[in-house]
Amino acid sequence: MLRPTAVLPDLARAEAAIRARGGALGVPLHVLGETTSTNDEAKLAAKRGAAHGATWVAESQRGGRGRQGRTWVSPRGENLLFSVLARVACPPSRLPPLALVAGLAAHAGVQKALGERVQAKIKWPNDVVVGDKKLAGVLVESVLTGTRVEALIIGIGINVYSRFEAGDVPEELAARATSLALQGAPSLDRAELLADVLAALDRDVELVAARGLGIVHGRLAALDALRGRRVTSEGAPGDRLQEGVAEGIDLEGRLVVRGDDGSVTRWSAGEVHLVGGGRLPQ
Ligand code: BTN
Repeated sequence: MLRPTAVLPDLARAEAAIRARGGALGVPLHVLGETTSTNDEAKLAAKRGAAHGATWVAESQRGGRGRQGRTWVSPRGENLLFSVLARVACPPSRLPPLALVAGLAAHAGVQKALGERVQAKIKWPNDVVVGDKKLAGVLVESVLTGTRVEALIIGIGINVYSRFEAGDVPEELAARATSLALQGAPSLDRAELLADVLAALDRDVELVAARGLGIVHGRLAALDALRGRRVTSEGAPGDRLQEGVAEGIDLEGRLVVRGDDGSVTRWSAGEVHLVGGGRLPQ
């Protein structure tokens, strides 16, 4: 799984940046030139007993994975690709809130790098977007013991340097993705970005695992990119397509949608697209 290839200087400083924050996540830090997927590294290590906080960051992934079974494409050395093992014990009902918290942490790091000029938001459940373009994605997987969650693998991909020029990446991706560089971020330092996201996760993950989404709900609501917008759901093949106006996120982490007949439904899984605003990002 692990092949040592070159790690660029900014990532090589990541361990020092994390230690300077003094949190529990990101320790130990495994910095890889290449792997199949940092989530796979974390999952395998979790099964072998790796400790809370262990983190894998890679310059490139041969099999990067996204939500809904998609692949995650990222040219070598251009972006921030990492997974952290969080040993939190909670019932499976806490998984959707925890997936949202991971998006909130990715947003916190991204927003700090962007500065005040550009406002990033969160597209439910956990994409970080600028306008309708995606800047970061989150894939949370869990390790279960019986009916309890024993650990989370929080995998985050943040587009830092990529310019997504047509010809370099699939055309569809070029049209829907953005990066810190494309947004003119004053800081493109991946070590500082990683340390900031891990510190934000450290603040919220255990609290939400223990007490639920209430404690971060106000922050999520303020960053909700879908609120007031017309959305459709994309469920499993054969599922009835649902449509309506997004009204917010509830305390279970579901998207609250009002249909044209006035009825309210709560969407807990699947993919959401904007109606009339084009397809939302990868
Ligand atoms: C999505 O938006 O679909 C989620 C994308 C998650 C990508 C990250 S990159 C680091 C980690 N390793 C993976 O294989 N996936 C996540």
